[in-house]
Amino acid sequence: MSNENKTIHDFELNLICDFFSNMERQGPGSPEVTLKALSFIDNLTEKSLIADIGCGTGGQTMVLAGHVTGQVTGLDFLSGFIDIFNRNARQSGLQNRVTGIVGSMDDLPFRNEELDLIWSEGAIYNIGFERGLNEWRKYLKKGGYLAVSECSWFTDERPAEINDFWMDAYPEIDTIPNQVAKIHKAGYLPVATFILPENCWTDHYFTPKVAAQKIFLTKYAGNKIAEEFSMLQSIEEELYHKYKEYYGYTFFIAKKIRL
Ligand SMILES: C[S@@+](CC[C@H](N)C(=O)[O-])C[C@H]1O[C@@H](n2cnc3c(N)ncnc32)[C@H](O)[C@@H]1O
Repeated sequence: MSNENKTIHDFELNLICDFFSNMERQGPGSPEVTLKALSFIDNLTEKSLIADIGCGTGGQTMVLAGHVTGQVTGLDFLSGFIDIFNRNARQSGLQNRVTGIVGSMDDLPFRNEELDLIWSEGAIYNIGFERGLNEWRKYLKKGGYLAVSECSWFTDERPAEINDFWMDAYPEIDTIPNQVAKIHKAGYLPVATFILPENCWTDHYFTPKVAAQKIFLTKYAGNKIAEEFSMLQSIEEELYHKYKEYYGYTFFIAKKIRL
């Protein structure tokens, strides 16, 4: 990568970070859904080690940490998000048990069979669903849990416009039965699967995003890359409203049943 490209890339990452820093969460979800997913997980104690991969600014991590007693590590590759994450942990009085670190989900800094729970809301797609399932498994103890949310098709067929959008954005999107089969194939027992309700997209994601967009466009007025990025966010929202019966987020809870 040339220096010039590196600068452009870094600039874009800074823009993305800036845009989403004004939001409590960086993807669809809600405190209720985080707690529903947690309700399927047993065995956690104050000695448990928990990792939240692709944690963003930690909206879901603080909810999770408020309802478990173990140590929680949030990991994200954007240092701007991790700064906010650690500030949020301090403000919630959780700093003794909750730590944000900068790192990459394809090279996790954990020891084999160290973790009791791997959490990841709306982030495993960055490494790919199957790859994440397979590569993260070794960090879990036997009997440990994985709880991830991922985009799914709700039907076997769908209109070309939304199919093409996802084939371009994330071709690994799949139907829920196929995703459950991948979980099983990767060596986990599928424990629970549920679709995130619509308010996880609307009230908890798109509404705060519109507010963040206003702040962002004022700050970067006249900046073509920023305007394009912001426009893409609006297109994603329009597509969701048009095609929400065909796709959405699903939470998958799975247990590592053998080493
Ligand atoms: C859609 S956001 C979800 C954030 C948060 N989990 C939530 O639900 O609000 C995806 C997150 O994954 C992070 N991410 C993307 N690629 C990553 C990588 N290779 N390693 C670690 N984090 C990554 C992004 O910075 C972002 O915070």
